[in-house]
Amino acid sequence: MEHRALSRLAAPAVAALLALTTACTGGPVQGRPGAAGLRDPYFPKAGNGGYQVEHYDLDLDYDPADGRLHGTAVITARAGQRLSSFNLDLSGLNVEGVTVQGAGARYNRTGNELTVRPAEDLEKGEVFRTEVDYAGRPKALTDADGAKEGWISTDDGAVGVGEPVGSMTWFPGNHHPSDKAAYDITITVPQGYEAVSNGELRSRTTDADGRTVFAWHNPEPMASYLATAVVGKYRVTTGRTPSGVALYNAVAPGEAAASAGVLARLPEMVEWAAGRFGPYPFGTAGAVVLPAGTLGYALETQTKPVFPGATDEETLLHELAHQWFGNSVSPKSWKDMWLNEGFATYAEWLWAEDHGGTTAQQEFDAFLAGDTDVDEDARSGWDAFPPAAPPGPEDISSQPVYVRGAMVLHRIRQEVGDEKFFALLRGWAADHRHGNASTADFTAYAQEKTGHDLKKVWDVWLYGKDRPE
Ligand code: TRP
Ligand code: ZN
Repeated sequence: MEHRALSRLAAPAVAALLALTTACTGGPVQGRPGAAGLRDPYFPKAGNGGYQVEHYDLDLDYDPADGRLHGTAVITARAGQRLSSFNLDLSGLNVEGVTVQGAGARYNRTGNELTVRPAEDLEKGEVFRTEVDYAGRPKALTDADGAKEGWISTDDGAVGVGEPVGSMTWFPGNHHPSDKAAYDITITVPQGYEAVSNGELRSRTTDADGRTVFAWHNPEPMASYLATAVVGKYRVTTGRTPSGVALYNAVAPGEAAASAGVLARLPEMVEWAAGRFGPYPFGTAGAVVLPAGTLGYALETQTKPVFPGATDEETLLHELAHQWFGNSVSPKSWKDMWLNEGFATYAEWLWAEDHGGTTAQQEFDAFLAGDTDVDEDARSGWDAFPPAAPPGPEDISSQPVYVRGAMVLHRIRQEVGDEKFFALLRGWAADHRHGNASTADFTAYAQEKTGHDLKKVWDVWLYGKDRPE
């Protein structure tokens, strides 16, 4: 009865009446704004509260000749509360329009926050679709530690890299690793250029203007810092690992000769890592070798790490290992970075050990002794701070996170023995597959899985301020 009466009123009037009714019964009346940041201990404004993204559909159009990017981001998300407004992270670029559920939405920008106010509140639990049209010349960021990230131009193209917060320079999103989502990234480039992104190439077509359209599909959850888009002149090769994982490599022509040898080992590396860590977590693997000098580091972008020029075996293995540790099992916050870097570094040690090189024990001993004969540049500095507590955002990619993080794992191995240790690595990757985990999750898991009390390892190696003896 009541409903029939209501149906004669205009929609806004119904909404007002319902709001009034809830007010009288003491229920929640209005939506609240979603938080402008997720209070990450190192990057408090990164990410946004009130919703979680399920899927990003990015349509990017890039012209290397003038450096202009035109993008349409369709973001499908689920509201975690009744929302009157919500934020996306976006740095630079011009927003040309925003719709929510197909209706024009108000928006405004302050700093790196794009605040979207839909015409109507979003209900808690509602899955909603936001479209952001944007354009401009993206600007790269400089990290707290001085590294460049974001959208970076090369001689004949560009690359988007996002660790830790650079992805906001090329697409709007919930840019914190705790909110993972599936991606479809479509890139339109002038004829003669390649465009490479995460996952599988679904189609490569020519549009009415003769430009090439690359449609990339990444169905597994991905943290936004692992998204990439690469545009330029590349030599593409495809293949499969012996167990059938599809491979896609794109190599800058100038780096092709120097890259061939190491890239030829990738199939074998994928199989080796799957043997050590459990099944490869994604449908595709590969590598992108950028023109030399584009970046100061390699990055484990999902399914296709990017390398700043021809790389070496250790680095290729390191970025591959991140596909399990960092990409499939992602950190809950940037404080948990050692769960990425300590594991990827330890993977390098294991690879060497399994292939007639230095053993992990020898690596561990050499670092502990500060032995500069074995590897001159890298034997000191690992003890500057405990890996689970970098002093600040400028330290999340510093030596102790990598090396002392790996030493933590080796100390566990010493305590529990090889059998339990490798079961621990595989179990960790399996039980948190495509999820997020924190340091506390790891320490609890390691004790439970191995049945050993590892408190001393945590106290001394993981959290202790002093240099372990
Ligand atoms: N995470 C990358 C790796 O280990 C390295 C990296 C990415 C980095 N961004 C950085 C290192 C910024 C120093 C500064 O493979
Ligand atoms: Zn790494």
